[in-house]
Parts: sequence; C-alpha cells; structure tokens
Amino acid sequence: MKSLRVPLLAAGAVLLLLAGCAPEPQESAGPTPSAEPTLDPLPLSAFQTVPSADIHGLTTRSVDDETARIHAVVPQVDGHPELNATLAGFSDAQVADYRASGRVGGDGHGFISISWSTLGSSASLVGFLLSSEMSPGASTADTEKTVWYDTKQKRQLTLRDFVTPAGMEAVIRSVTQALRAHVLSPDVDGAEQILAGGEPAVGFDARGRLLVGFDSYQVAAGSYGAPLIAVDADPASLLTPIGQAARTATLDPKELEVPPPPPPAPNPPVDCHVQKCVALTFDDGPGKGTTPRLLDILKREKVHATFFVLGAQVQAHPQLVAREVKEGHEVGSHSWSHPQLTSLTPTAVREEVEKAGAAILNATGVKPVLFRPPYGARNAMVDGILKDAGYAEALWSVDTLDWKTRDAAKTVEAAAKAKPGAIVLMHDIHATTVDAVPGVIAALRAKGYVFVTVSELVGDPKPGARYFGTY
Ligand code: NI
Repeated sequence: MKSLRVPLLAAGAVLLLLAGCAPEPQESAGPTPSAEPTLDPLPLSAFQTVPSADIHGLTTRSVDDETARIHAVVPQVDGHPELNATLAGFSDAQVADYRASGRVGGDGHGFISISWSTLGSSASLVGFLLSSEMSPGASTADTEKTVWYDTKQKRQLTLRDFVTPAGMEAVIRSVTQALRAHVLSPDVDGAEQILAGGEPAVGFDARGRLLVGFDSYQVAAGSYGAPLIAVDADPASLLTPIGQAARTATLDPKELEVPPPPPPAPNPPVDCHVQKCVALTFDDGPGKGTTPRLLDILKREKVHATFFVLGAQVQAHPQLVAREVKEGHEVGSHSWSHPQLTSLTPTAVREEVEKAGAAILNATGVKPVLFRPPYGARNAMVDGILKDAGYAEALWSVDTLDWKTRDAAKTVEAAAKAKPGAIVLMHDIHATTVDAVPGVIAALRAKGYVFVTVSELVGDPKPGARYFGTY
C-alpha cells in the first residue's frame, strides 16, 4: 500500500490496538462506536488467525536473497489465479520498493521480511494477512495487507463489502475518535479517505470485533507504528451478510472447498461438412467388467463416443453412466430390458421407454435425446411412441458384428470400412470389443477420420427423426 517515506528514529514500529470499551446501550438503530477508546499496545497483532490446514490446495511462493537480505513468503491457493496474483503482487511490490531504496543488504543494513497468516476460512471464503517489515537502513516500516477472497464468486472483498452503509459511519466515527484521542496530529481526513476507498486492512479479533488497520506513516507519525482499531458495535447492524460470513470464518473456521477439477477440455469444434467424421457407438451397457476399461481407452485417445445404455444396467451401475457423461460422451437410451419393441403392446413399449429415460436422467442429470431400438426393430407404433417421448432414433450404418465374432481383429476390420458420416455399431459388454477399440481408433485416424458423438454428427437431432449416418 505504501512505500517508506519518512526516516524513523524509533527502534521499530509497534502495532497498537486502539480498542474501545463496551458501548452504552443507545436508542439509535445504527451500530454504536465506543465513546471512550483506550490504548492497548499489543505484542504483535490483534488479528485473530486460524489454522491454514483447512485450506486445501494451499502452497507458498518464496523470494529469498541472502545477500540482499530479502525473505518473502506469501500463500497461494490452487485454482485461483486472480487471488494468487494479488498475493504475489504485494510481495513483489514491497521487494521492488526495498530494492529501490538503495540501501539493500548487509552493507546498507537493510532488510525486508514478508510473512503471512490465515485470518479466516469457510467453504467459499478465505482471508490472509500479509505483513511486510522493511528496513532500508536505520528505520523500519510495517505494511499490513489483508486479502479476503470469495472463491465461489472469484472476487476480492474489501471493507466496503463487509460493512453496511450505516456501519461505515460507525467505523469512521470509531477510527477518527481513536486517532484524535491517542495520536498527536493524526491525519483524520486521510484516514477517512482510506476507509471510503475500502483500502485498510480488515479482519476480526478473538472476540469477533471488526478490526481496521493502517500502515505505519499512513495516518499517524511512524512512532505510532501501524495503528489497528477495533470497532465496538453490534455485528448484526455493522456487518453485511458477507461481513458476517467472514466473521464466522474467523471465529469458527471451516474447510475451504476444493475447487472442482477443470472440466475436460472439449474437443475442438468439428465441422462434419468439412472433416471426415465418424461416430463410434456402444450398446447394451454399461458393463461392470468392460465399460471402465473402454472409458480409460477413450479418455487416453481423447475420443468421444455415444453409449446406448439399458435402463436396467443404468440402475445397476449408475456411476458408470455418470462417468460416461462427465467425460464428454453422449448417452442415449436403448430401452429398459432390451425386448423387441415391435412385439410389445404400446403400453409396454411406453413403459420400456419411460423407465429407461428416467434411470438415465436420475444417474446423469441429463435427459437423453437419442433412442436406439433393440435389434433395430421399429414400426409405426414404436416410431410414434418415441417421437411423443421426445426421442430421435439413432440406428447405424456399419455393423461390426462384434457380438457375434467376439474377435478383436475382425471388429477392427469391420469398423475400418466406415465411410465419412458413418455410425459404427459395437457393444461395450464384450471384452473382445474393448480389446478392438484402440485398433479401431488407430485404423480410422490413419484414414483422416475425426471422432464425434451421434448428436454432433447429425447436428441437433429432432424428435421423430431417424438417423443411420449422414451419407
Ligand atoms: Ni442391443
């Protein structure tokens, strides 16, 4: 926040707490600042700190230079580059100020030491206190910066986020009273500007009182150190909901939620009018012993496929279908129990369709838009029910007969005959099919094919439409 401007004769800056007595009850609705602040020197800091162990993904960034007597450590939190840039930026600016002072290192008797602690943590809030002690020679200057960050909204929080408008008046009254009562020639106007700008250090003490801090030299002579002022007021009216959440994160810290891993990088958009596209499809799963291995292969090869799953299998292995969707594959319905739909009554067909769709939605959160009738058996009755249920029918243009041959080499050979726009039929319940998939991908890639889902291939499937491929 500041650089050293004034030489200081005192041995070192001392942090002071200008604390208030408990307020007298008043009739006004607003928060009530203390009327009679008292002066309590503190050994180091009145900020309440919490264990850093609750912050998952916490690392540190150090700058060490023994010759120049620079020792700077700031925290970093995985997955929050904006927060990390602020934390690192404080350290870098302080070190740059120190280097610019021209009295760096042992001969100039200068040093800089930057350390940190955690002020609060909750599921979506984290607060850090950064402390810089800089001495380019005979004097020292303390700079304390607090960084509060909302990890859900990905934004930094300042005093203005923590305090209500009425509360801000109470903060200003507390600060100006404390400065006038205890500091010779305080810069009251400067303090008000810093408060209005939301710049001061902010946190809470062990009693949950809001603390507002200034750097040394900012509002008072350097001999007063870095003033820290407690605002004695009812938190309910002083603090906004965010401010109250920060107070709770200080008094009752909770684990910071780990940011979810970044979603798998989507395959670059494919234009199947320009590129040679093929859709690999896998029916009758998910298979407990085979589908996980297939998904591992597809992930390694960065290939998205389409799975036509059976409702009964989805109910048995919901986590496998959820994984299919999570890893970027398309999931369509293949009925509940794989009957030949054309031999059933309309009521029974509807039940097969609805039960399977509900199981998929339940397991994945996604309502399927594609349906593949078992055996490809369809008629006007089946078509009408599927259309009413919002499904497009996805058939195929290349039948690998993998279920019949159970021979990986033959499956590769059959799949490799695909033409641009093909939908290739396989089954992820056979180990020999999974064995074939690396060869299928290699053979088609060698011919210049790119792999897409059925919906990507046909482009926005329409209910009632039937797709066999696009050639
Ligand atoms: Ni089938």
